Amino acid sequence: MMQRWSRKKTHFPLLGFLFLVFIASSILYNEHSIQRIHQNSDDHHRHHDHHQAYVKSTPSNRTTHQNRTPKVLDRFSSCSSTVKYSGREVGWVDGAESDDQRGSSESCDVFSGKWVFDNDSYPLYNESNCPYMSDQLACHKHGRSDLGYRYWRWQPHNCNLKRWNVTEMWEKLRGKRLMFVGDSLNRGQWISMVCLLQSVIPANKRSMSPNAPLTIFRSEEYNATVEFLWAPLLVESNSDDPVNHRLDERIIRPDSVLKHALQWENADILVFNTYLWWRQGPVKLLRSTEENGVCEELDGLGAMELAMEAWANWVASKVNPLKKRVFFVTMSPTHLWSREWEPGSEGNCYNENSPIDVESYWGSGSDLPTMRMVEKVLSRLSSKVSILNITQLSEYRKDGHPSIYRKFWETLSPKQLSNPSTYSDCIHWCLPGVPDVWNELLFHFL
Ligand SMILES: *[C@@H]1O[C@H](CO)[C@@H](O)[C@H](O)[C@H]1NC(C)=O
Ligand SMILES: *[C@@H]1O[C@H](CO)[C@@H](O)[C@H](O)[C@H]1NC(C)=O
Ligand SMILES: *[C@@H]1O[C@H](CO)[C@@H](O)[C@H](O)[C@H]1NC(C)=O
Ligand SMILES: *[C@@H]1O[C@H](CO)[C@@H](O)[C@H](O)[C@H]1NC(C)=O
Ligand SMILES: *[C@@H]1O[C@H](CO)[C@@H](O)[C@H](O)[C@H]1NC(C)=O
Repeated sequence: MMQRWSRKKTHFPLLGFLFLVFIASSILYNEHSIQRIHQNSDDHHRHHDHHQAYVKSTPSNRTTHQNRTPKVLDRFSSCSSTVKYSGREVGWVDGAESDDQRGSSESCDVFSGKWVFDNDSYPLYNESNCPYMSDQLACHKHGRSDLGYRYWRWQPHNCNLKRWNVTEMWEKLRGKRLMFVGDSLNRGQWISMVCLLQSVIPANKRSMSPNAPLTIFRSEEYNATVEFLWAPLLVESNSDDPVNHRLDERIIRPDSVLKHALQWENADILVFNTYLWWRQGPVKLLRSTEENGVCEELDGLGAMELAMEAWANWVASKVNPLKKRVFFVTMSPTHLWSREWEPGSEGNCYNENSPIDVESYWGSGSDLPTMRMVEKVLSRLSSKVSILNITQLSEYRKDGHPSIYRKFWETLSPKQLSNPSTYSDCIHWCLPGVPDVWNELLFHFL
């Protein structure tokens, strides 16, 4: 199975790969946006120095191998050598009873529908009125003048979504912790949720903690928090620092979900995602029991499956569905190749200002083998995890990405500036916009 997937992987166009690397390096910097941190050039240098730094750190790694507790991975972690994946699975206990109750009570598939222009009800908040807006997602502020992307409502084919009601949402959250866990796409959904919620709370009754692996928005009067935990690969990895992390060599501990689980285990409502970080070439696995620093190497999909299983194992053994709600958000589509919706063209999402209206449109950025794997893993957890299947509905929204209308932390070269599509961000989403609808879906199911 894994072999087959890995062969498929090699068809991923090189240009797409390079583009992802570029965008991912801008993902690196997105965390600054919350607080508009400063140290651009500083960080840049640190990134470039990683290679040397981690080579130097190897001897100290070796000494820690004598300890029984494996060293926590960080961006300086390295493999002493790398071998092919052995095929050994993570100690997954297939004990979770799979039942298919969820969904069957739901008579309508809210994920199947169409976008309807509705400038009466949308946007649900104003970009400039949300003090927690990210400079990576504030498209209007960064010069976008076509504002149509803010006015679309998602209309399921056979029913209506519950109308967003901020008071009702706060009542659901009273005394609770809502936590988003994942990568920058999930972070965007978290910012959307904070923007949706914050407007009705007086400024002196709400607060945002400093940007950190775990960032917390708090409302005093509801005694509730809306939190974001940076864990792009779900399991422990060398990319767990939200600001300084590496992409050139991603190392995970496929058997260690615990480092992050300790942070999320007491949340009442959990919203997970993971996807794009697995789409950038092979991943190295360093097992907790490995004492000599030998890593195994596996293609992204295989590695993602191991991580999903470690996560699923945690959910199966630790989640009581009467006490805790768990959601998994499926992959967020990208719009890197306009030829996919407009044959013969050579651009990407840049200059796109209306949704795709071809029913069932599906772009190459949403990997079907990954979707099938996610479905398989989640099917074992169907009584404990609700799926927010946002992929199809977001596929239509080629107009929803920031493209060039966001803050870029790298200096853009004259060559790039003369050809905007070369640096367009067709991965993240403008706010207000598509992630607000993901949150309406979350509200619908809460
Ligand atoms: C909504 O859109 C219609 C049609 O484009 C336009 O005539 C109207 O002024 C818009 N209303 C608002 C509130 O923007
Ligand atoms: C956004 O701002 C406009 C104009 O400033 C205002 O008419 C509108 O009601 C605001 N919308 C929300 C959701 O606050
Ligand atoms: C929103 O929810 C609150 C609390 O449940 C309710 O009192 C109110 O009527 C709702 N507002 C709308 C417009 O439905
Ligand atoms: C606030 O919520 C926490 C759970 O998040 C709970 O432990 C605590 O008792 C609550 N405090 C009040 C004053 O309700
Ligand atoms: C999400 O929906 C698509 C169809 O839009 C379907 O093919 C896919 O299997 C679904 N994913 C999951 C995890 O249920």
